[in-house]
Amino acid sequence: MLSDEQISAQLPHVLNVTKYDFLGQRHQGKVRDSYTRGKIRILIATDRLSCFDRVVTTVPFKGEVLNTLAVHWFTLSKDIIENHILDIPDPNVIVANECAIIPIEVVVRAYLAGSAWRDYSSGRAVSGIVLPPGLRKHGKLPQPLLTPSTKAEIGKHDEPIGEQEILARGLVSALLWGQIRDTALALFGLGQKEAAKNGLILVDTKYEFGMYEGRLVLADEIHTLDSSRYWVADTYTEKLADNETPEMLDKEPTRQWLLEQGFKGDGPIPTFTDEHRIDIARHYISAFERIAGRPFVSSVGPVSERIEKNLESYLEGAR
Ligand SMILES: Nc1ncnc2c1ncn2[C@@H]1O[C@H](COP(=O)(O)OP(=O)(O)OP(=O)(O)O)[C@@H](O)[C@H]1O
Ligand SMILES: [Mg+2]
Repeated sequence: MLSDEQISAQLPHVLNVTKYDFLGQRHQGKVRDSYTRGKIRILIATDRLSCFDRVVTTVPFKGEVLNTLAVHWFTLSKDIIENHILDIPDPNVIVANECAIIPIEVVVRAYLAGSAWRDYSSGRAVSGIVLPPGLRKHGKLPQPLLTPSTKAEIGKHDEPIGEQEILARGLVSALLWGQIRDTALALFGLGQKEAAKNGLILVDTKYEFGMYEGRLVLADEIHTLDSSRYWVADTYTEKLADNETPEMLDKEPTRQWLLEQGFKGDGPIPTFTDEHRIDIARHYISAFERIAGRPFVSSVGPVSERIEKNLESYLEGAR
């Protein structure tokens, strides 16, 4: 684990935004900046932290934690499905094959939490699935469920969409959807199994798939703290019995803090102190170490310059 001194020393070097014009066409997401050039997409994980669909602050080492975690899971899941990775020229970067992304966020959940709980508790179906009565908040579902949503344009929220509707609207063929469904459930099963080895519960997650040269591939990110929720296994039962929120490895504490400040996604963003940002960094790094089961190794220094240098030599070599 990096020391608080190291994390603090990284504060002036956080990667907020990239502007590498030489890389190609730029797309800025909430957390990542990506560049497309011909058949490749260069995905750069920045240190931005998003909550309630807004970027609220930056956190030292967060981009590297996110990217390294994605690479960890992409490697573990290779036998289930081919993924988009071509190269990893820098700890914050994935060079990927540019895919035709299937415009559906493939969400899988094993527990009733987040938006699924909100829908269920107000009597609504969860992505078109009518669940039996009597389930509890944060309780385990009878089996993992697919609760897809549409991929929204920037600034809009994703909308839940039932599997029936995906097919009815012709977003994906029935054959391909079957393949996506089986793959997503298999990936989730792997995630649950691996998480359990490290005393964790994989609660829910989101996958994005794409087509590359006629094949279905796993794109975007997998089982990261931005796309998934993890709980601590050995306190789960106790917390549930006490009607408390399970211990989380994700950004829930930050979300809670923002809510306490009266922020729900609209209006001015509360100010994070450096102390708080260091705290969040520690939380992210230790979450990485628990999930991956190995130490997070990095060093203090300017991130943007390092990425630029690494990408320049990568492209030089690729020519
Ligand atoms: N291999 C790939 N080929 C093409 N597009 C990809 C690939 N992998 C990921 N993407 C796309 O790259 C973008 C990554 O950006 P990012 O996730 O940071 O932002 P976003 O999805 O626009 O917004 P959000 O912050 O809500 O996730 C997404 O649009 C994702 O669908
Ligand atoms: Mg995204």
